Amino acid sequence: MRILVTGGAGFIGGHLAAAFLRDGHDVTVLDNLEPFYDVRLKEHTLDVHREVASERAGSYTFRDGDVRDPETVREVVADADIVVHQAAQAGVRTSVAEPRKVTDINVGGTVTLLDAAKDADVDRVILASSSSVYGKPESLPYEEDHPTEPVSPYGVTKLAQEHMARVYTELHGLPTVALRYFTVYGPRMRPNMAISNFVSRCFNGEPPVIYGDGQQTRDFTYVDDVVDANRTLLTDGSVDGDVVNIGSSDNISIQELAEVVRDQIVPELAIEYESAREADAEHTHASVEKANETIGYEPSRTITEGVGEFIEWYEANREWYEPLVRSS
Ligand SMILES: NC(=O)c1ccc[n+]([C@@H]2O[C@H](COP(=O)([O-])OP(=O)(O)OC[C@H]3O[C@@H](n4cnc5c(N)ncnc54)[C@H](O)[C@@H]3O)[C@@H](O)[C@H]2O)c1
Repeated sequence: MRILVTGGAGFIGGHLAAAFLRDGHDVTVLDNLEPFYDVRLKEHTLDVHREVASERAGSYTFRDGDVRDPETVREVVADADIVVHQAAQAGVRTSVAEPRKVTDINVGGTVTLLDAAKDADVDRVILASSSSVYGKPESLPYEEDHPTEPVSPYGVTKLAQEHMARVYTELHGLPTVALRYFTVYGPRMRPNMAISNFVSRCFNGEPPVIYGDGQQTRDFTYVDDVVDANRTLLTDGSVDGDVVNIGSSDNISIQELAEVVRDQIVPELAIEYESAREADAEHTHASVEKANETIGYEPSRTITEGVGEFIEWYEANREWYEPLVRSS
């Protein structure tokens, strides 16, 4: 199968591209290496791809380009059976600071891609959406028909992207599906996220810092589970035109997360608190019932297991990865 992964130099897209290469597919990555965090992390991911590709039958192409550029997008989409769309400006705080830019990339880029996919008759577009579309919980865990009232520009762009995809399915018959990811973590994760930050601070004997009182709750989803869901959808059309939560079965508070990390590295460290950051959701918690019933999705790890694996990976890769986390 020929698969285009947009944002494939990033954290999640990087894992998806590597997994598809391992599975023997022909993979093209489109990514503009946006310097939202240290670009060396993306270069490392591209090296991983080249290494995997050298050991497998499938072809690998990296295209340095922008998902908002119609010509580039048309060229790479023309060679794809499936498009896996991860390119976005992620990060709630960036979206508060630069709402126009984030809208341009997350909504404008998606429309450019959907247009090209429609014209090229691709088999399916799988889009990365986010738990941020829910915003204010009326009931938890979130089921997919829970009202959507995002509390950040980022969440609004992800919701707009979902609707745009659904409309392309309804109007043009382009198969699309949007996966609402709930805080994803694992090897090579973005340096500016709670888990990478806590782990790095603990390894350096510094207390993990919590923004707010630490009672905010989150699902933390291991990146392999996100890969599995996407892999299933390469050939499964049962949720076309729809949205599906991809979360974990373990919902914990940020305070508990800091303790889980700290206890595995330096149990005697204290935890520090700073004032809460604006536009962060209070609570996110996924119901994964729909994903389970439709595509057989099952989270594979508890948070303690997943964090343990991440810590092991961090230790093995500390030399190159830690400076990137520390500089973010
Ligand atoms: N990581 C999470 O916890 C999480 C949670 C919910 C949803 N998501 C979504 O999953 C997707 C992947 O997230 P991630 O954590 O891997 O982020 P990431 O920032 O690591 O990856 C995104 C990639 O997109 C690329 N990109 C940005 N703008 C682009 C453009 N205009 N043209 C081409 N490429 C561009 C970046 O260079 C980057 O490599 C995003 O759509 C994000 O919104 C992530």
